[in-house]
Amino acid sequence: MYSYKLKSNELVKKASKKFYIESYGCQMNFADSEVVASIISKEGYDSTENLSDADLILLNTCSIREKAEITVRKRLESFNKLKRNNKNLKVGVLGCMAERLKSKFLEEEKIVDLVVGPDAYKDIPNLLYEINEGRNAVNVILSKDETYGDISPIRLASNGVTAFVSITRGCDNMCTFCVVPFTRGRERSRDPKSILNEIKNLEKSNFKEVTLLGQNVDSYLWYGGGLKKNFKNASDLQKKTSISFAKLLALVAKTFPKIRIRFSTSNPQDMSLEVIKTMATYSNICNYIHLPVQSGSDNILKAMNRQHTRSEYISLIKQIRNLIPDCGISHDMISGFPNETEKDHRETLSLMNEVKYDFGYMFKYSERPGTLAAKKFQDNIPEKIKKNRLQEIIDLQQEHSKLRTEQYIGKVVEVLIEKESKKSNLYWAGRNQQNTVVVFPKNSHKLGDFVKVKIKECTSATLIGESIN
Ligand code: 5AD
Ligand code: SF4
Repeated sequence: MYSYKLKSNELVKKASKKFYIESYGCQMNFADSEVVASIISKEGYDSTENLSDADLILLNTCSIREKAEITVRKRLESFNKLKRNNKNLKVGVLGCMAERLKSKFLEEEKIVDLVVGPDAYKDIPNLLYEINEGRNAVNVILSKDETYGDISPIRLASNGVTAFVSITRGCDNMCTFCVVPFTRGRERSRDPKSILNEIKNLEKSNFKEVTLLGQNVDSYLWYGGGLKKNFKNASDLQKKTSISFAKLLALVAKTFPKIRIRFSTSNPQDMSLEVIKTMATYSNICNYIHLPVQSGSDNILKAMNRQHTRSEYISLIKQIRNLIPDCGISHDMISGFPNETEKDHRETLSLMNEVKYDFGYMFKYSERPGTLAAKKFQDNIPEKIKKNRLQEIIDLQQEHSKLRTEQYIGKVVEVLIEKESKKSNLYWAGRNQQNTVVVFPKNSHKLGDFVKVKIKECTSATLIGESIN
């Protein structure tokens, strides 16, 4: 293995190669691309944002819905011309589609030379050697302990202010619609020491906000390593000294009082009262929770194998609002799950009316091969009905978002400046704690400043104001 590495280093150093990487899907994929960039840089490759300069093009892919996969296949097609013009160009696919399709990817998309699943990125140096020798290469082995905790990610396309830090990988929830347990494997948590170390380095480089990432962050549990499901067999000492998500959150908040902390994604059944109390205790943990529910109907929640009922979910929302009255809350919702009746759909709308979310991410059900829902149910809701129901959900969310943003008018919010506003170079854009976008005139403020902004106007998605400090 070592000689492979040497050879591949020699090969690429002489040629001083460049790689281009593009990410699709969730924040985790974007964070993983930064791990991959770090691994590839050590092989002598420089990153480029220009496709035509690249010797290696990598797509970090998503399988969550069929549409996400179609987008990737179209993108791959668009590289055909580049490959015709540059015979040495190599194309690799990473991430969830790589894991789902495995070596079938090479048969289905002839342009692909390299297929690497989400737990196999450390093998990329060897795989690069293979493809540079003219052979296709595949590694899609899922791991029980890989967390990439020892790799310092290279921040790609970074604003220098906000960064993702992954804390768990995989998911054990087995929601019936979801491909993630198959593409990302079982749940495992990262050593808190390496998490703190990564954040310390970010702070040193002047970053101001971190988002702790995992498919299911509330289920974070460090007891010395290993799969979450094996915790029950851990020693008494391991159990006694274990670190839960609430403890990790408090540790990060205490260690870095000047850093703003967010986390994503939460699962209702795993979110503990302790987490909510910790959020309420530390002012640098943002008052915002992304709490996907997927449906407001108990029948559908059950068929989805969500581990909570509608009323348990509503109790959780009440608890959050009791302890953190100004907490921003967002959701994920799916329309047209198999056998969803009009009544089930109405229950989704009524749940939304009860919670009045700040915003949400809304999708039509897309059957994913190999999932429990694909095996057990027929995808029997006609496309037109799925689409109409989705539109009703989107329209209602739009109303609620407007209600929520209007509540900020006349109030002062704290904004971290992240970038220039898309609409005007005279305005800064950032987010308040509740994750709503705020724009305001630049004055003398700088990127990365925390600014108090008085809100004057709003749309359903954006607050517009003026700084008062
Ligand atoms: N079809 C539609 N939406 C899906 N999601 C996950 N799987 C599917 C699917 N098969 C949505 C869920 C999840 C979000 C990341 O994507 O709402 O929370
Ligand atoms: Fe897409 Fe889910 Fe994989 Fe993220 S974990 S890339 S959302 S399939």
